[in-house]
Amino acid sequence: MLDRREDASQIDWQDEFDRWAVGQGYGLTYDRSLAETQLHSEVFSLVQQVAPIQAEDTILDLACGSGLAGTPFIDAGCILSGIDFSPKMLELARGRGYTSTDVVNLKERTDPLEGVYDFVLAIGVAEDYVSVSHLVHLASESIGQGALFVVSCPGERNLSELLADSGMSPIVSSHFDFAAKGAVNQQLELVVSKREDL
Ligand SMILES: C[S@@+](CC[C@H](N)C(=O)[O-])C[C@H]1O[C@@H](n2cnc3c(N)ncnc32)[C@H](O)[C@@H]1O
Repeated sequence: MLDRREDASQIDWQDEFDRWAVGQGYGLTYDRSLAETQLHSEVFSLVQQVAPIQAEDTILDLACGSGLAGTPFIDAGCILSGIDFSPKMLELARGRGYTSTDVVNLKERTDPLEGVYDFVLAIGVAEDYVSVSHLVHLASESIGQGALFVVSCPGERNLSELLADSGMSPIVSSHFDFAAKGAVNQQLELVVSKREDL
């Protein structure tokens, strides 16, 4: 999502996100940069369309950042766990009510993450930072049959097809015009999928 002119392979992304969390390098904090977008409320409404969200539901948020995606779920009484490689982002997520947070580089993580959850979220991370197939793999280890995986991906990928190939049945999707300042990907596809194959 970051629009930087350097060769992306030369960038220390963990440091970039640590700095962006507190407003260094991009002028605005991460939260302020995204303040104008409706992406996170769109994620919540999409899930609400297909699943009753109940207090005490447990949610794992992959690459949770500052916790913007999880906040409406916390307001609904859910219990959020967040994973990210930026300690500064995780500090903000804890401030928003994430009850557990872990510093993990998802690209390098091959072992299953701890716990089994009612939902897994992965918003704003697939393909830009971690391949969608790897996220699907990690998510499928963290949810039981019938549980939901909610993921966003740049619009040019056929996300529903990718999910279906990985044993996740897409239930509902929407296209999101991500017009935030500094965002490279103007079009995101959001998909809620259900794990079918145990
Ligand atoms: C665009 S932000 C999205 C944050 C949050 N999900 C949201 O919707 O606001 C991308 C997040 O992915 C995290 N990230 C990028 N690459 C990662 C990796 N390899 N392992 C863990 N986290 C990563 C960044 O630290 C950042 O918080």
